Amino acid sequence: MSGILHIVYGTQTGTAEELAFDIEKLTKDKGVSCQVFELDDISMDKLQEISKLMIVTSTTGDGEVPDNGLTFWENLSSLTKLNLSNLKYGVLALGDSSHYDFCNAGKIIDDKLKELGANRILDRQECDFDTEGSMEWSEKFLSLI
Ligand SMILES: Cc1cc2nc3c(=O)[nH]c(=O)nc-3n(C[C@H](O)[C@H](O)[C@H](O)COP(=O)(O)O)c2cc1C
Repeated sequence: MSGILHIVYGTQTGTAEELAFDIEKLTKDKGVSCQVFELDDISMDKLQEISKLMIVTSTTGDGEVPDNGLTFWENLSSLTKLNLSNLKYGVLALGDSSHYDFCNAGKIIDDKLKELGANRILDRQECDFDTEGSMEWSEKFLSLI
């Protein structure tokens, strides 16, 4: 279980969820084990057990984490110490640059995971308005994980 890729999405209106399941299909087609979760499915205890993580999240409100990831973010952001040295991860952020805080949810989660010692294996992809580039980014991520 812990060795499988966890594809974890935060969504407000469904785009990131749909994308997460498209990425699941791509991943399975490549013969890599994976499972899709919502951000709030991931407790801090669970996070410490995961070794491969892809976060796919949109931003809502004024730069906020979507509702199905608020508990995850509250827990993660309140931590100053957590041993995430075994965790390899990447963040695929959806947003819209007409908003002031472009892709902020992806940014703050990415920065916090890094601060807690997790290993970012690929720079964050930020998608503006649509999901262009996300499958190419995912393929690259899968080649590195
Ligand atoms: C009410 C609302 C607020 C939004 N706020 C932001 C924002 O602050 N920053 C940003 O980059 N995108 C913002 N967006 C754009 C969404 O993140 C983007 O459309 C995304 O693709 C939606 O994905 P989802 O359907 O998974 O929630 C907002 C969209 C809506 C509808």
